[in-house]
Amino acid sequence: MISDKLNRPIHDLRISIIDRCNFRCPYCMPEGRHSFLKEDTRLNFDEIVRLATLFVKLGVKKLRLTGGEPLLRPNIENLVSRLAQLSGPNDLALTTNGSLLTEKAVSLKRAGLQRITVSLDALEPEIFKTMSGDKGNVLGVLNGIKAAEEAGFFSVKINVVVKKGINDRQILDIVEYFRGTQHVVRFIEYMDVGTCNHWQLEEVLASKDIIRMIDARYPLQAQVANYRGEVSSRYAFEDGKGEVGFISSITQPFCGDCSRARLSTDGKLFTCLFAKDGVDLKIPIRSGASDNEILDLITKTWSARTDRYSEERASFIKSQTHTQKIEMFQIGG
Ligand code: GTP
Ligand code: 5AD
Ligand code: SF4
Ligand code: SF4
Repeated sequence: MISDKLNRPIHDLRISIIDRCNFRCPYCMPEGRHSFLKEDTRLNFDEIVRLATLFVKLGVKKLRLTGGEPLLRPNIENLVSRLAQLSGPNDLALTTNGSLLTEKAVSLKRAGLQRITVSLDALEPEIFKTMSGDKGNVLGVLNGIKAAEEAGFFSVKINVVVKKGINDRQILDIVEYFRGTQHVVRFIEYMDVGTCNHWQLEEVLASKDIIRMIDARYPLQAQVANYRGEVSSRYAFEDGKGEVGFISSITQPFCGDCSRARLSTDGKLFTCLFAKDGVDLKIPIRSGASDNEILDLITKTWSARTDRYSEERASFIKSQTHTQKIEMFQIGG
């Protein structure tokens, strides 16, 4: 087990397997010029499995595949089945925009994927379209969630990024749609990840305001976290019809327990979602480094980690420092 300078162990590995996406959500990858990786600069499946195995040796218990849109990576099922065979992690999850789930849910389940999180920012088709940069079709995503359910993913997590004045009037509709089902909706404060979204504080709706809005219609009760370091604060409906969560990186940062390492599509290890750069693991791998050498490099990187961007955000913004940040679609959500 390794720990960083703030005594935080390494517990999750989030692996971005592709930087491309079929959506253009303005908060992540707005329409415009982006340079995407060529196929041979992405880690291949052998390299991903090798690195995941080494991370597991160092204490990682949870693997999450992300993107861009991970279901665009050809033969993802093959990767999933190889990761599912690793002994050590007790959780193998995927974060997707849901648009390809009707085709992929059954094969992902068969391959051994345990959990799915789907991003869904609105139910109203026009608002959904705006939130996905004119690319998404809400019915396709809702059908994808149903397909996941039918394939045997018992409880799907639904991520809703809230932008003030854009999709906040959808909050109660989304709550109503999923209340009483086994699925769990989590509202996410719009974050200043990367730079291409031109984030403004004025566009953030604080979780406490969302909680107040939901509580007025469906009384809520705060719950304890499922595990140490859970990013989402949980609230149950008092009438027993399930729960909702709130991910409040802007108003209630959760760096204190952050045990997430991120592997970018091109094989860099990032120790924070808001980092400028990562430590290249692909070059050593491709130039013949041994497992022990790579383990040393990961250990050295994690042991030196001091990141707590969300807790320091206000001072960075004030001093206009830390302005270069990796984009979310390059390292995953
Ligand atoms: P569970 O394993 O289901 O609890 O998932 P999770 O809480 O890891 O959730 P998920 O991977 O779906 O993360 C939800 C969202 O929270 C992400 O898409 C990000 O927007 C945000 N998030 C996750 N990890 C971090 C983090 O370390 N820092 C910040 N600032 N935001 C994060
Ligand atoms: N702020 C908050 N959440 C974001 N996501 C992407 N960009 C942002 C942002 N700027 C979320 C997406 C998805 C996950 C991959 O990350 O909604 O659920
Ligand atoms: Fe694509 Fe997800 Fe980014 Fe939207 S948030 S552009 S769906 S990677
Ligand atoms: Fe972890 Fe960085 Fe997010 Fe803080 S800002 S919770 S250190 S990823």
